[in-house]
Amino acid sequence: MRILYLGDIVGEKTILALKQELAKIQKEYHIHLILANAENTSGGKGLCYKHYKELKSLGIVGMSMGNHTFSKSEIKEYLSEASICIPANWNAEYKKDVLYIRYNDKKIAIVNLLGRIFMNTPLDCPFQTMERLLPNIDADYIIVDFHGEATSEKKAFFYEFAGKVSAVLGTHTHIQTADEQVYNNTCYITDLGMCGVEHSILGDNVESVIKRFKTGVYEPLAVASGKNFIINGVILDLKEKNEIERIYKKITLV
Ligand SMILES: [Fe+2]
Ligand SMILES: [Fe+2]
Repeated sequence: MRILYLGDIVGEKTILALKQELAKIQKEYHIHLILANAENTSGGKGLCYKHYKELKSLGIVGMSMGNHTFSKSEIKEYLSEASICIPANWNAEYKKDVLYIRYNDKKIAIVNLLGRIFMNTPLDCPFQTMERLLPNIDADYIIVDFHGEATSEKKAFFYEFAGKVSAVLGTHTHIQTADEQVYNNTCYITDLGMCGVEHSILGDNVESVIKRFKTGVYEPLAVASGKNFIINGVILDLKEKNEIERIYKKITLV
């Protein structure tokens, strides 16, 4: 089974870029299923119901989140019914630890976890959380979106669970890494990268981010504008011998 997993979608304009390009990518790479990290879709933080529905209509059948899960609080209202999983080690009142997606006779489980290094959120241990979840997961394939800042933490998680899950895919930094690999039949990349405006700082407006760094004065950041977008992610080819391929597309919105 060939699965396209997209990195953090930043800003609602990116939905237009995906609308323009996704069908082409799907055809070119013979994709059966599209999944994505959607934590930055609505205004750069969170996911409104409207944008969730738009992403679904593009054929993104499952979404994982991250530290911005609750940045748009309406997710609390629609989470239980939605094809979304949220970080399982977040001790929140609202839970969605495992998302199951069916494709023909196969069942895919998606688990979202948050790293604890450089993350300003009280969290349970992602390793112990995964140990707790694993025996109860009933699926042909298990994909983990490990949403974290530190490369070491993501890689440690990968080696700890290599052979036990189909893929460990890092998200959150918005910068795609070039270390895709397979070990013990588990696919891995430290970060998928992002889907968003190309000339940006992690999807946000360049000037406002520079100003914040130079002055140290807090300013709300805006999602970058522009017509050039990057679409980052990986293709997982899950079969007897799993494979991973990196995707880095540049497109101009017409
Ligand atoms: Fe993100
Ligand atoms: Fe994040």
